[in-house]
Amino acid sequence: MKDLRIAVVPGDGIGVEVIREACGALDAVALASGKKITLTHFDWGADAYLKTGVTLPADGLRMLAESFDAILLGAMGDPRVPDNKHAADILLGMRFGLDLYVNHRPVKLLDARLCPLRNTEPKDVDFVVFRENTEGLYVMMGGNFKKGTPDEVATDIDLNTRKGVERIIRHGFEFARATGRKKVLMSDKSNVLIHAHDLWQRVFKAVKTEFPEITASHMYVDNLSLQLVRDPKQFEVIVTSNMFGDIVTDIAAGLQGGLGMAASGNIHPGKVSLFEPVHGSSPPLAGKNIANPIGAIATASMMLGHLGWNAESARIDAAVGEVVRAGQTTVDVGGSLGTRECAAAIMERLKAA
Ligand code: IPM
Ligand code: MG
Repeated sequence: MKDLRIAVVPGDGIGVEVIREACGALDAVALASGKKITLTHFDWGADAYLKTGVTLPADGLRMLAESFDAILLGAMGDPRVPDNKHAADILLGMRFGLDLYVNHRPVKLLDARLCPLRNTEPKDVDFVVFRENTEGLYVMMGGNFKKGTPDEVATDIDLNTRKGVERIIRHGFEFARATGRKKVLMSDKSNVLIHAHDLWQRVFKAVKTEFPEITASHMYVDNLSLQLVRDPKQFEVIVTSNMFGDIVTDIAAGLQGGLGMAASGNIHPGKVSLFEPVHGSSPPLAGKNIANPIGAIATASMMLGHLGWNAESARIDAAVGEVVRAGQTTVDVGGSLGTRECAAAIMERLKAA
């Protein structure tokens, strides 16, 4: 199999610390398996923006698409940039500009101790959320009228296209079929968003007929939020819109032990895709060696799996699972180790594997 070329964008805050460890895990697993991964770092983020005024360089997207197999990103967000313009330009710029329409967020509990729910075992929390990633409320269309006056009007448009809705719903079913899962649930708010989410209803009904072996069901997103914390074992594959997916994947991260544990991929099948932990840059935790590196390391594993390095991905997952069960973790998930020490425990196992 060919060498991998990965573009690494650590970004801001704890992104820098956790991506350093994710890169260490990639190097370790490549070494152990006699393969080669080339990591090329880009300093895009708040520091570069404040120094140069540039968020995402003009030729950045073309360069990523032409020269790399995937992108590994830490987090964007810095209090010195109050509106976080650079975060929108860089992260959302890549999602939209590279047309990464699938936001794939696996939800897997590694140890019962990590779950805030009573009597919940790893087998009870094991599902995938596919979040639409290129439209919906994220298109930033809308405006203000009479801004700053008592008569101000403000709008943001929930933009849904048949093509956009159809491709994410189809991806959910295709993933279920390819991985032997039996259930796909679509979640919307079609009882109120009677135009945009009626489109989701109609497209879901049409697409599900192509997958007769899979049980298709629906929940309104408010009920889904309840059911996720009441009985998560009922879920296998969830497909939803951009904004609802943003919200329910934070709830889902909570089921796994918190944002520090959650991985994600922003994917366009067959094209260069972007992998990032679900957590943000968390400025108060930055620079203190306390951030949980597992979300970023699990994200690096997900990236390898996406690129066909299945054995290496499985090796990282096994090492992460062992470290979590041994309690060799950071404080947010009940351990007493620092970022570097938790990651070192994972890398020890990767070298031994
Ligand atoms: C996420 C984040 C982003 C989003 C922010 C940082 C723009 O919350 O990836 O879930 O809303 O998509
Ligand atoms: Mg989010």
